[in-house]
Amino acid sequence: MKALLQEERNGPLIPQSIPTPTPGPGSVVVKILANLLQHQLPGILSGTSGFTYPTPMIPGGRAVGRIAATGPDTTSLPVGQLVLLEPFVRARDDPETWIMWGSMQGTTEGSKKLFAQNWRYATFAEYVCAPLENTWALDEKRLCGELGYTIPELVWLCVDFVAYSGLKGIGLRAGERLLVTPATGPFSGAAVGIAVAMGATVLVTGRNGRALQRLVDAHPKMVSAVPRTNDIDTDRENLKKHGPVDAFLEMTPMGAEGSTHVRAAFGALKQYGRAAIMGFGGGAMKGVEVPTMELLLKSITVHGHTMYWGQDVRDVIKMVEVGALKLGKERGFDAVTEFKMEDLEDGFDWVGKNHEFGQMAVLVP
Ligand SMILES: NC(=O)c1ccc[n+]([C@@H]2O[C@H](COP(=O)([O-])OP(=O)(O)OC[C@H]3O[C@@H](n4cnc5c(N)ncnc54)[C@H](OP(=O)(O)O)[C@@H]3O)[C@@H](O)[C@H]2O)c1
Repeated sequence: MKALLQEERNGPLIPQSIPTPTPGPGSVVVKILANLLQHQLPGILSGTSGFTYPTPMIPGGRAVGRIAATGPDTTSLPVGQLVLLEPFVRARDDPETWIMWGSMQGTTEGSKKLFAQNWRYATFAEYVCAPLENTWALDEKRLCGELGYTIPELVWLCVDFVAYSGLKGIGLRAGERLLVTPATGPFSGAAVGIAVAMGATVLVTGRNGRALQRLVDAHPKMVSAVPRTNDIDTDRENLKKHGPVDAFLEMTPMGAEGSTHVRAAFGALKQYGRAAIMGFGGGAMKGVEVPTMELLLKSITVHGHTMYWGQDVRDVIKMVEVGALKLGKERGFDAVTEFKMEDLEDGFDWVGKNHEFGQMAVLVP
């Protein structure tokens, strides 16, 4: 089969012909139909993002495909079944040991072993041997037939799991007002449609007015935009004008040191408010003073959150299958742009320029 292999760190992804995998206990082989092409991937492959992994390695991990071969312990996934693959692999003997399939080996001896000896080949290939517990059946008749979604549009669900799990982590309830800050990136923007599907109204912030407008247009009765000025007092007061903020979700990338949006969000939270801290970047962690007096005087709960659990994946798939959670145009997305594996460099160029919420590209074998 054809695969995109990185032979050494910071080296190119080279198309190669390698043996098609066969499944063993705890795995299935999936024929890949579409991979999410993330704008963060070049930084991961060049080592600048801080993610580490052994080489050779095949990247990917967020994809939709069809079961091509089953293992001896596959009980519910027939050959031909449409499935979603997601990258958060937990060790079977220790759920606290985890890796990001196709991008990150983690920091413990156990996680490094799990990556290097089991899951170093992810989904940028025609076929992949996938962990059974990261392989999720999709109801093709419902999703592609009745709801009219395309296969590339379904790949987005892999992004949705993250925000859903974070919102569950702060116990978001129907009828509450959530602030998402910023809300204009792919992962952060995903939180908006999820929160609406969970019954919350949402305030969205950021500097990108076009991405904010996409979110409002997709959910005009549930979402309000509060463009960010980076003046704490102005931003806090603008947020408070909409009424009490019950909770906020923060997802800031690296390089946001000096931004005041997290502090403004704490300022806007009501008494007993909750905060989900999910960004790996500076906005929340570095260079931003956490207002501890405000935290204690308002009895605020701060919850850090990474990735998700299997139950979160099941919940999100059900939400989209019943029609509560939207994908594609109804969620604010442009049509998905597709790149063939041999046009990967064009794909990287495209996602490098087009990665606000609502823009999406997939890599197809
Ligand atoms: N915890 C987890 O499990 C998990 C999982 C996946 C991702 N993440 C985190 O989520 C982050 C966001 O991912 P993403 O894909 O949504 O976005 P992204 O593409 O990584 O970054 C773009 C977003 O960041 C905002 N931004 C850029 N520079 C900023 C600055 N100086 N100050 C404040 N905001 C700034 C942009 O807002 P404007 O341009 O509109 O201001 C836009 O919303 C990732 O970088 C990662 O740290 C966490």
